[in-house]
Amino acid sequence: MEELTLKSTIIVAQYDELSQEDKELIDAAKKMTENSYAPYSKFKVGAAIRLANGLIVTGSNQENAAYPSGLCAERTTLFFANSQYPNQAVTDLAIAAQTNHSFTDSPCPPCGACRQVIKETEDRYHQPMRILLYGKKAIYIIKGIKDLLPLQFNASFME
Ligand code: THU
Repeated sequence: MEELTLKSTIIVAQYDELSQEDKELIDAAKKMTENSYAPYSKFKVGAAIRLANGLIVTGSNQENAAYPSGLCAERTTLFFANSQYPNQAVTDLAIAAQTNHSFTDSPCPPCGACRQVIKETEDRYHQPMRILLYGKKAIYIIKGIKDLLPLQFNASFME
């Protein structure tokens, strides 16, 4: 028997340490929280992604009285971008969330289902997606979904 240790790396940064491009993406994600439709959870999530051609696409969580019919901000945004621009890789994703009219202190991480969709998007475009998680106290920068989703399931297991 042996123990397997899986390592993840996360860079912790403050807003003023970010590049202009990263600030722009985080600002867009924060702005999108205002477009969230979250009458049930009151948890307003915004996402912004940058495509390989430089275009920024944004989205927010959209809830439904039949709870499972709603969708997270990350998947709303990724599915919209992938359907509008199917030939553009997604290079970066920023996420921000508000509760009680205030952004979360800690960076809001993507849920498990969104991590799986981020993984599929990386595979589809053959490149990692940088992930920026905004929190008032810190911003997490992650180089790709590998650091948030160890032991990834993908199509290769079905071959
Ligand atoms: N939510 C997101 O939009 N992204 C996440 O990564 C976590 C959760 C949404 C789903 C639901 O509308 C609300 O936040 C509460 O779970």
